[in-house]
Amino acid sequence: MNANSIFFICGLIVWLCLLQSCRHDSFIMEELPLEPMDTMSTQIDTMLVDTMDMNTTGNNNPCDPDIIYFQYDILPILQTSCAISGCHDAATASDQIILDNFENVISTAEVVPFDLSDSKLYKVITENDSDEIMPPDGKMENEKISLIAQWILQGALDLDCDYVPAVCDTMNVTYSSFVAGLFDTSCNACHSSSAAFGGVILDNYDAVKLVVESNKLLGSMNWDEGFEPMPQGQEQLDSCAIANVKSWIDEGAPNN
Ligand code: HEC
Repeated sequence: MNANSIFFICGLIVWLCLLQSCRHDSFIMEELPLEPMDTMSTQIDTMLVDTMDMNTTGNNNPCDPDIIYFQYDILPILQTSCAISGCHDAATASDQIILDNFENVISTAEVVPFDLSDSKLYKVITENDSDEIMPPDGKMENEKISLIAQWILQGALDLDCDYVPAVCDTMNVTYSSFVAGLFDTSCNACHSSSAAFGGVILDNYDAVKLVVESNKLLGSMNWDEGFEPMPQGQEQLDSCAIANVKSWIDEGAPNN
């Protein structure tokens, strides 16, 4: 080996080392931008949003079944039981208490977040004294009281979510699959052939057809002016059940 080739080999080794360290440098440089946490979490967020956008329902803020939502769970109770004319609607404002929307409930009903015993709204609906209880005509169903309690215990907030109302399907309603069963459960304690209150019988098709023809059935179920509100002394049937009966009547109330 002559001096030239030794020099060449040493040069080659030095050059290879430099090349290696350059590679090493550039390797670190390429890796670095991926390291900081911020970049990572941004990427994760974006991925979650993307996944949700692909959700077929399009819900980006689906309602959490464990959360009580004022607008969807509480307000409907207050509107039917309290914010009515002569009581706690804005026009009457009995005792200066107005229960027709979130702001008014919070500012007039002495709701103390997380605290049932200091919340007047809760105290009056669970009152044992019949002179003090609200609504004055009798205690609400336990289910409703419990919803109001949970709402207060969750902080009495006005949270929102993408609420999807239950769909009411009024297609293909038949007497045998729907109407007869509804009357059996909701009406026939008072309208059977053996106990026909008001002379109204709803436990067989021919009798039901007569009531349909008298034009009193829907009016009383809808609680329309001029009709006796039915079922008597109970809550109104839900609007979907009434819509189903209406659709069956619109089809000519057939015995199907
Ligand atoms: C707790 C007993 C009770 C129940 C339950 C009840 N009714 Fe009645 N219903 C009555 C009484 C009592 C009358 C007679 C009221 C009157 O004329 O003062 C009546 C009258 C009616 C009338 C005639 C209304 C009018 O304006 O003349 C219809 C229609 C009727 N009921 C339908 C129904 C239907 C439909 C249901 C079920 C969704 C139902 N009822 C449930 C007690 C009841």
